[in-house]
Amino acid sequence: MRRAAITAVGHFLPEDRVTNAEMEKWVETNDEWIRTRTGIAERRMLRDPGKATAHMATEAARTLLRKRGIGADDIDAIIVATVTPDMMFPSTAALVQANLGASKAWGFDLSAACSGFLFALSTGASLVESGRHEKVLVIGADKMSSIIDYTDRTTCVLFGDGAGAVLVEPTEEDCGIIDSIERVDGSNWSILCMTGGGSLHPSTHESVDRRLHFLHQDGRHVFRYAVQAMADVSAEIMERNGLTGDDVRFLVPHQANLRIIDATARRMGIGMDKVMLNIERYGNTTAGTIPLCLADFESQLRKGDNLVLAAFGGGFTWGSTYLKWAYDGKPGA
Ligand code: ACO
Repeated sequence: MRRAAITAVGHFLPEDRVTNAEMEKWVETNDEWIRTRTGIAERRMLRDPGKATAHMATEAARTLLRKRGIGADDIDAIIVATVTPDMMFPSTAALVQANLGASKAWGFDLSAACSGFLFALSTGASLVESGRHEKVLVIGADKMSSIIDYTDRTTCVLFGDGAGAVLVEPTEEDCGIIDSIERVDGSNWSILCMTGGGSLHPSTHESVDRRLHFLHQDGRHVFRYAVQAMADVSAEIMERNGLTGDDVRFLVPHQANLRIIDATARRMGIGMDKVMLNIERYGNTTAGTIPLCLADFESQLRKGDNLVLAAFGGGFTWGSTYLKWAYDGKPGA
């Protein structure tokens, strides 16, 4: 059976760190509130006005290609999960293709907010499993600082910038992506959204005055849905694959809130020592969180390790993926 496996990872984080202490200078907040309510201590920010999501995605992909020891010409397709594309069109994937010089590749962007990377991974895996492609680049990248209102304390403390990339290739071995669940429910779209700049509310003086070009979130409401949906979908994928907490090497959760992650881990019957975390250092990087976790923990992973990936985000969108890791350690680093 031809399966799709992650065979390399790469990442990029802007150098500029914004600590909670810095945030205290911008809005009425404090380190204690941010840490206890979210688990975040600092986040990264891409301050260079000439650089955006495609830059971070390209750098993450470059690292990956170097580690895997292949060239950009070997890539068949590029999928970029993002809600902060450089521009409405062309796609971020097109810009990444040009930056890399990936002469044989096609590509597109995928918009599913914080579930974007999981949806993109599922799509990329299908292209490989079907036999259509040998090497698909799946990237999760967001420059959240471009859509955050830094006068709104309820959202600005939560998000950061960053990108992670994985390579998906075929395998005949007993590893790779085994199962996935994807869900969307648009009925609650308005409690987590950015309405400005699309075809319904094109950019006008009025749309700027109404602050429609910033992310809006009713955090309390989203929290209630997220905590239930992420735990449910993680339990569902374990059940239908006959997994217990003992079988799982790592939960790789979307990093929106430590309390949501903790509830998911408890429902799965695993301790926090088996949960990949980067929220403390990077905040919520939207489509970037899961591949950034994989990059951070790569050296601890062994071939055959069972991983459960889980996410919840705007849309609403949510999902989980069960995979067996396909290689040992951190090759080519
Ligand atoms: N500093 C200090 N106080 C604050 C801050 C802040 N930065 N932000 C809000 N508060 C205040 C509020 O005003 C409120 O005060 P009030 O009771 O006087 O009205 C109080 O703190 C509690 O606010 P809540 O919103 O109830 O706080 P909560 O405990 O719910 O935490 C949070 C807020 C962290 C946003 C949480 O609701 C959450 O994590 N929600 C889910 C986020 C999520 O999963 N998003 C999906 C992914 S994102 C994506 O898809 C792009």
